Amino acid sequence: MNAQDPVYVTDALIAQDIDAYLLKHQHKTMLRFITCGSVDDGKSTLIGRLLYDSKMIFEDQLASLEADSKVSGTQGGEIDFALLVDGLAAEREQGITIDVAYRFFATDKRKFIVADTPGHEQYTRNMVTGASTADLAVILIDARQGVLTQTRRHSYLVNLLGIKNVVLAVNKMDLVDYSAERFYEIVTEYSHFAKQIGMDSFLPIPISGLKGDNIVSKSPDMHWYQGPTLLGHLEEAPVNDTAMQDRPFRMAVQWVNRPHLDFRGFAGQISAGAVHPGDPVRVLPSGKVTTVKSIATFDGDLPQAVAGQSVTLTFTDEIDCSRGDVIVQADAPCEVADQFEATLVWMAESEMLPGRPYLLKIGTQTVSATITEPKYEVNVNTTEHLASKTLGLNAIGVVNISTDRPVPFEAYGDNPDLGGFILIDRMTNATIAAGMLHFALRRSQNIHWQSTDVNRDAHAAQKNQRAKVVWFTGLSGSGKSTIANIVERKLHAMGKHTFLLDGDNVRHGLNRDLGFTDADRVENVRRVGEVAKLMTDAGLIVLTAFISPFRAERRMVRDMMAPGEFLEVYVDTPLEVAEQRDVKGLYKKARSGQLKNFTGIDSPYEAPEQAELVVNTVALSAEEAADRVVEAILSQG
Ligand code: ADX
Repeated sequence: MNAQDPVYVTDALIAQDIDAYLLKHQHKTMLRFITCGSVDDGKSTLIGRLLYDSKMIFEDQLASLEADSKVSGTQGGEIDFALLVDGLAAEREQGITIDVAYRFFATDKRKFIVADTPGHEQYTRNMVTGASTADLAVILIDARQGVLTQTRRHSYLVNLLGIKNVVLAVNKMDLVDYSAERFYEIVTEYSHFAKQIGMDSFLPIPISGLKGDNIVSKSPDMHWYQGPTLLGHLEEAPVNDTAMQDRPFRMAVQWVNRPHLDFRGFAGQISAGAVHPGDPVRVLPSGKVTTVKSIATFDGDLPQAVAGQSVTLTFTDEIDCSRGDVIVQADAPCEVADQFEATLVWMAESEMLPGRPYLLKIGTQTVSATITEPKYEVNVNTTEHLASKTLGLNAIGVVNISTDRPVPFEAYGDNPDLGGFILIDRMTNATIAAGMLHFALRRSQNIHWQSTDVNRDAHAAQKNQRAKVVWFTGLSGSGKSTIANIVERKLHAMGKHTFLLDGDNVRHGLNRDLGFTDADRVENVRRVGEVAKLMTDAGLIVLTAFISPFRAERRMVRDMMAPGEFLEVYVDTPLEVAEQRDVKGLYKKARSGQLKNFTGIDSPYEAPEQAELVVNTVALSAEEAADRVVEAILSQG
């Protein structure tokens, strides 16, 4: 978190008696909240107003304001309000690369952390990041504009993320003549929407961030409003910091602490329940049971630890337990599964590709995961369910997810720590989606791997060879099929058992339903990978000739195979050369616009970075290239 050091300049106590000052703030509760709304509805002004009126301005903020305005010697509370707001806005612009700026302030009653979301407001990414830890959300509405799509989207997300405490701050009341009628019109409209999305309740407050109406003190211009001020409500709103303590014990292992041979501790933050020395616990996914020996902290051993605390547990037995495992109450474990239904909030410019392997980070572990086509996408304006093949930027949808390993989890609604996750692009490392697990698919438990007596080693041994996949990749017309064909002929002549899967051929049968969109190419390669894998189980040397333009899917197939069983051959032919050959006349069609999504023209090709072999078809004849490939296959054993 980026919370700035809380250095107050207005509290004289800090200079006089630092201990008394710290004591004063130590026992206050902390409320984390997020402000969300559309562009121009006055978020900066509101945050500025809260900081300004609660007289909590940081020394460093003040310093940068002074530097900007060339005013020196200003004291918090005396500086110009407009200057403060400009300063915050400028800071946000500079901080465009950070997802969320956390601002800290305090009043006599409570401490606050507000997640301020910089950057382009139309992106939900920042909002989701900020909201994931919030106790309360302030949804800002411009009184002149009323409820907008962005209001609905943010409200939907706030509700989805499980934030129960929602304030509808109808801002800029000064610009609608402090009209009660306008306020209630907006509240009525919002109520309908809140009901649709299943939001239990919200508190509407008419405010003006600019003028300070109903922020800290009651507005003299809105006597018709009898409710609390915004800050008044923020000071009183319940903070749910004990809700998780009454549940069964859960702790995801962050790291294994082994300072010396006699000590092995499992460190993490307790996400639910309590733990004591002597408690029987279970380690998931393995399911092994042991007993807690001690709860170690920097300040010595504890008799008990509860949700929210970071601790190190030691066990009475030496059982296997590592990062990513979840330690749970022995007789009340959580579920473990590898297939789920989940809601996804897509946060990337590039659309979701069903079948592509993404990294899924949940709790303290990261696994590889693929997503099915959405069951439906949600229209946030109407909450209707729409049919959809993919999810684009800001889209919210429900999908099935399968992971490459079993994952201990709980439904997001029960435990956000063990049910919330993010998806990461394997190539760019960017966070591309946030998600919430609903439940495990029953087939996840009902389908088991059937082990067969004549296994893959037996199949290969009978053929007196080692099974492998030789994966040719390259542009259309690069020579993949030609070279693969010669290689197969040569291997066959040597008595090897082979099979050649060729793009054009497979697309006549198994993959007849697929076209050339990114999503279809991903699915094409996924299926071919699975078929190739089955063929290696049968002991064959499988040759595949597909453009397979994306690194992610080639890598997925590589990861499916044992080390040394996958040989990637990059048929490196420059686009100009392939286009000049144009054996099938497709480049010509693509250039004239008759053929869409053609690789190299208006659809990307990602050249391999770690191919076992690169053959250059300008320097080598097809026959020579094939010899190189055969050599590589034989030398791999
Ligand atoms: S892949 O991208 O999904 O791996 P694949 O290798 O199966 O493609 O099929 C490529 C073959 O389909 C090309 O050799 C070409 O003959 C034909 N084809 C038809 N349309 C396209 C297109 N838009 N882009 C690329 N190849 C196409």
